[in-house]
Amino acid sequence: MTTVHEPSTTIAATDAVRITPVAGYIGADVAGVDLRAELTDREVEQITAALHKYKVLFFRDQHIGHAEQIAFSRRFGAVTPSHPYDDDAPTDFPEILAVDSRLYEKRFGVKKFSYTNFWHTDVSPLINPPAASILRAEIAPEQGGDTGWTNLVAAYENLPAALREFVDGLRAEHRFGGSRPVWNADSDYAKKVAAAPLVTEHPVVRVHPVTGERALFVNPGFTTRIVGLSPGQSDAVLKLLFDEVANPAYTVRFRWAKGSIAFWDNRATAHLAPSDLDHLDVTRVLYRTTLEGDIPVGVDGTPSTSVSGAQFTGA
Ligand SMILES: [Fe+2]
Repeated sequence: MTTVHEPSTTIAATDAVRITPVAGYIGADVAGVDLRAELTDREVEQITAALHKYKVLFFRDQHIGHAEQIAFSRRFGAVTPSHPYDDDAPTDFPEILAVDSRLYEKRFGVKKFSYTNFWHTDVSPLINPPAASILRAEIAPEQGGDTGWTNLVAAYENLPAALREFVDGLRAEHRFGGSRPVWNADSDYAKKVAAAPLVTEHPVVRVHPVTGERALFVNPGFTTRIVGLSPGQSDAVLKLLFDEVANPAYTVRFRWAKGSIAFWDNRATAHLAPSDLDHLDVTRVLYRTTLEGDIPVGVDGTPSTSVSGAQFTGA
């Protein structure tokens, strides 16, 4: 009988991570990694490289808790508190944002499964929006509830040259609550947002600090206007750009199950929460962590400027 020699532990761990691209422009499945154990430096390198290349990574059957999710997140950067306006973080885990349909009615005064149903980049009204978000499913409905992501680099790069040149010099206001808030005006949440507004002027085209790629950094969830244009002009330009951001060609859609995790580069993507659950009697519970982000920089090197709100930093 032939003896099969196992490779050394180090090599086995290195070779175990398997990255499989999903959609044409975005998304990859990650297999061969167990998030219950601390990642090796090599695994962190491979996952980081895949994150920057594919923009959103999907892990399956990772049955971990809050502590393990935070430990995993910390391997990729400083973990921020859950959210600038959140006070519903699970006890002992202030880094965890509960995306919990059972909590939303209490918080927003309306039945919801996520805080926004528009394409958005997480907390983009911050002067330093999170670099990445990590979302883990605890309770996933059997039917519906998918999340979509779109590649903002593809949205920029596929514009005609004349439009790329036009948008390269633009800046836009991002405002939490935007022009169409999705919560009741008299809810406590609305009062909290009004008392401490988050408003930032970001470049419309953001240069990624790691890859150098240019991303179309606007989103219908938070971007309210193009600076320096009339309201009519601004609306027309934003309509054009939002259509590009939401072009199905640049998107991928993920079907959640308990233990599924999505890890996305929040500097190069926007995502869309589900809107197909409101008529169903289902519960959907996910837990998010976010990594501290940098201040965006435009094509000409000009950074974003804060109108209202401080930097949001991790420990
Ligand atoms: Fe989000």
